[in-house]
Amino acid sequence: MNQDELKALVGKKAVDWVFDNMTVGLGTGSTVKYMVEALAEKIKKEKLSITGVVTSEETAKQATSLGIPLKSVDEVDHIDLTIDGADEISSDFQGIKGGGAALLFEKIVASNSKKNIWIVDQSKLVDNLGKFPLPVEVIPYGSEKVFAKFDSKGLHPTFRLAADGTKLRTDSNNYIIDLHLEQIMNPLKLAEYLKAQVGVVEHGLFLNTVNTVIVGYPSGPKVLE
Ligand code: 5RP
Repeated sequence: MNQDELKALVGKKAVDWVFDNMTVGLGTGSTVKYMVEALAEKIKKEKLSITGVVTSEETAKQATSLGIPLKSVDEVDHIDLTIDGADEISSDFQGIKGGGAALLFEKIVASNSKKNIWIVDQSKLVDNLGKFPLPVEVIPYGSEKVFAKFDSKGLHPTFRLAADGTKLRTDSNNYIIDLHLEQIMNPLKLAEYLKAQVGVVEHGLFLNTVNTVIVGYPSGPKVLE
């Protein structure tokens, strides 16, 4: 089984946690795409009444094209469950997200959800966080100063670029600075530091967020709780 097939496996499995009348947060990324597809099929087949709360324009486009009714996070009084992907997950369920530049909305939706499920292929499980560059969303004004501060602190920053070579813009029109850290010894301390920097909107450390992780192995999906 290749990585894509493992992503499809967990994407399909995750909709087992969705029941009638739920409000469901829909994450972003290539694994979530399979889940959204499976969710649309389940809604049709079982005639479910589901409201989706999306975390990006990309997911909004897919969910709308498949007929999933959507509301914004501000239009719902609660979110029962959010299903999202992740870039890295450590054994104590801490994670890095934002590989798809959707970390800000993903964190807003996750932090307003009663339950969070992450769906990943086996390659995303790590001993320590940090091999995957840590995304930090910053407002464009003053971003060179934030970048210089990260650089002088030895955080190895790079601006994320779009396909045309310009600085990538997020759905909120911000920039992403990726920190190439290799290993994050103290995620909590780093998260606190990043949050305290003026100009930083959000970072991709998702700490104490997830309740259930569904991991794709060639032998089948494994549920970790
Ligand atoms: C987007 C994310 C994604 O969930 C994460 O990058 C995983 O993506 P994929 O399922 O494509 O590997 O955080 O901002």
